[in-house]
Amino acid sequence: MKVNKILETMDYGTAPESSAAALKWIEERGADFGLFIDGAFVKPAGRESFATHNPANNELLAKLCQAQSADVDAAVSAARGAQTDWESMGGSARSKYLYAIARLVQKHSRLFAVLETLDNGKPIRESRDIDVPLVARHFYFHAGAAVLMADEMPDYQALGVAAQVIPWNFPLLMLAWKIAPALAMGNTVVLKPAEYTSLTALLFAEICQEAGLPNGVVNILTGDGTVGEQVVTHPDVDKVAFTGSTAVGRHIRQAIAGQGKAITLELGGKSPYIVFDDADLDSAVEGLVDAIWLNQGQVCCAGSRLFVQEGVADVFHRKLRSRMDKLRIGDPMDKSIDIGAIVDPVQLKSISRLVDEGLEEGGHRHVAAAVCPSEGSFYPPTFISEVDPACRLMQEEIFGPVLVGSTFRTPAEAVALANNTRYGLAASIWTENINLALDLAPKIVCGVAWINTTNQFDAAAGFGGRRESGFGREGGWEGLYAYARPTYESTEALEVISPTQGNSEPVEGSIDRTPKLFIAGRQVRPDSGYSTPVYSSTGQQLGLVGQGNRKDIRNAVEAAHAARSWAKSTAHLRAQILYYIAENLSVRREEFAERITEMTGAAMESAKAEVDLSIDRLFMYAAWADKYDGAAHGVPIRGLALAMHEPVGIIGMLCSDQAPLLGMVSVLAPAIAMGNTCVIVPSQAYPLMATDFYQVLETSDLPAGVVNIVTAAHSDVVETMAGHMEVDALWYFAADGHSESIERASVTNLKRTWVNHGLSRDWQDAKQGAGKEFLRQATEVKNIWIPYGE
Ligand code: NAI
Repeated sequence: MKVNKILETMDYGTAPESSAAALKWIEERGADFGLFIDGAFVKPAGRESFATHNPANNELLAKLCQAQSADVDAAVSAARGAQTDWESMGGSARSKYLYAIARLVQKHSRLFAVLETLDNGKPIRESRDIDVPLVARHFYFHAGAAVLMADEMPDYQALGVAAQVIPWNFPLLMLAWKIAPALAMGNTVVLKPAEYTSLTALLFAEICQEAGLPNGVVNILTGDGTVGEQVVTHPDVDKVAFTGSTAVGRHIRQAIAGQGKAITLELGGKSPYIVFDDADLDSAVEGLVDAIWLNQGQVCCAGSRLFVQEGVADVFHRKLRSRMDKLRIGDPMDKSIDIGAIVDPVQLKSISRLVDEGLEEGGHRHVAAAVCPSEGSFYPPTFISEVDPACRLMQEEIFGPVLVGSTFRTPAEAVALANNTRYGLAASIWTENINLALDLAPKIVCGVAWINTTNQFDAAAGFGGRRESGFGREGGWEGLYAYARPTYESTEALEVISPTQGNSEPVEGSIDRTPKLFIAGRQVRPDSGYSTPVYSSTGQQLGLVGQGNRKDIRNAVEAAHAARSWAKSTAHLRAQILYYIAENLSVRREEFAERITEMTGAAMESAKAEVDLSIDRLFMYAAWADKYDGAAHGVPIRGLALAMHEPVGIIGMLCSDQAPLLGMVSVLAPAIAMGNTCVIVPSQAYPLMATDFYQVLETSDLPAGVVNIVTAAHSDVVETMAGHMEVDALWYFAADGHSESIERASVTNLKRTWVNHGLSRDWQDAKQGAGKEFLRQATEVKNIWIPYGE
């Protein structure tokens, strides 16, 4: 074509990247890969293998080994064997290896990028300019984190061996997000890449060898979901980190319930992309191309639900359709291609099915003008407008290049539409009005909000979701805590305290005392109409408490839900109220101490000490209420990422029998200080402590419903609390063995759980009983990205 012709049409030519070096790398390894265990590649004889293909042309790339349970045992045992030395060499020494890995990723960046594109089908532009640079950045950041661990996380140590299972959409990047923080904190890992995309993980294994990483620190097992399941359920694993579908995340949560493993889940999403009428519409269209067509839309945080303000909807949709028609689809190795291949024919089928079935419920489809290549797995960029909020297309994760949309009128309507999903991963908000944007960002249930931008990621800023998008964060300081545990944790078994039994006759001359439940700021009778006697340590009846049941828990959750504006109250107000509660408790110090003595038989001195410490705890969290600050991260954009602490929501709590007053105050105070509302089931052995305590709450200006107290046998209510869709987190510190059932039942809404697995906690101890660990459990971190400049 002549130059003047090109200037007329402005057509791009092709700009293919060479795949020769990557194909040679595969060929040199016989196109047949083994497993990476204890620092070496092993290919056990007679092992089953499976093929990995280039989805852009269906060509076979290589054969991969399907690991067996003996291989899983060997990998976990290698990781276990290496862990102590790896941790004890210290953060500075570990950082040298992480730094070396970062350098080597940069050195081999071209090979990594090409291999990733061949195996996954994403445009080379993306693997070269986004995935691989972010991988290097992650290792650099965590090299630094390893150095700072001793100073910045002095009470923390490694968890041990981490089992990590990753998906196929960002194969190398997800590996980096998992391996870098784990290694920085002194853990060793067994990682299973996704079966469609294991090649860059195997190249990474070679990088580990080249960096001289001690054997066993990183182990990589290829194979399908059965290998993933064997890795995460292995009894010698301490931590499970999973990224993938919500269905598998749920399954894993249940499969490891009660095993005492730490867990983080980064799951699906259906993130809103909100465009207000004052937005820079051209920029918003460009942002949308990135939001939904990056990586063919196979992105957990893809802006897949478009909401445009009604007044500009027509013009915005027109601009969008015309931009779509200019997208170039084709060979992902071509540097001027926007849309590459879908990872596998299976995924292609799933996208087509979801779209075809979804369209039966309505919607107008626009398909980009570009024609898909006839060979390989391709799906055209698609926009379906006028989709009702309840339709499958709006609700289900399509995980492909398919955008669905509708319109809104007011900001409140935009928030309601955005939150009308079971997921809670990310959100993009487009408006030139910063006040509006910053008003909306906290109202949308998500872990990451982008203002006038989208798909921003950095190692310094945490990433992760809420609700069915999972829990836990990757990146930032919060991501580091996901790979560490406190050094002060107890390893002693929690002692079971059985309620004292005795004479059912009340003490002569005493007034009948049957305290009720405390729900929505009122004393209410239990639904069952039954009560249970409570005896003193010498067997005398002290009173009766209501026997709460499932219905009472539901009522308490409803009250906690109705009180959720507590989250919006100022931290100053929450502090004031906590001080007031402390003050009112101190007025009744003697009475509470007597009650403790009466119930538990404790000496008066120690009972007084428990009350005093409870008052101190209330003061402490009043102090923290307005000082547990977020952060402004120094991310590499012209702008900042604000890490905001938000309350988790409604926290259910089953309290300890050890220190019946202090054990309860130590959990409710941090929770309400951070803006949560609570449903508390107090100590089963000494419930009168809680019913006395609500009288203190009643006189302390605490809004109704912020704290609700249901006296009940834990076994009668624990499953209801753990399974309740409105309860966002469940804390369990009792000794009646419900940790496993809580973790299992929590999958309904994938709530966060904090359970003791039968281990004790010394509530008197300044570290075990109080501090930032409690604040972290009581908060979610939301990163709000705000670019600046014209
Ligand atoms: P998947 O969740 O089945 O697979 C992700 C990883 O988990 C893979 O390494 C797989 O081998 C492993 N795995 C599968 N079953 C397992 C089990 N029982 N125990 C432990 N590990 C297991 O995702 P898949 O099949 O690749 O994609 C299906 C759908 O999941 C997609 O259409 C998409 O909607 C969603 N997805 C979401 C991702 C996200 O980042 N949110 C990533 C990948 C998929």
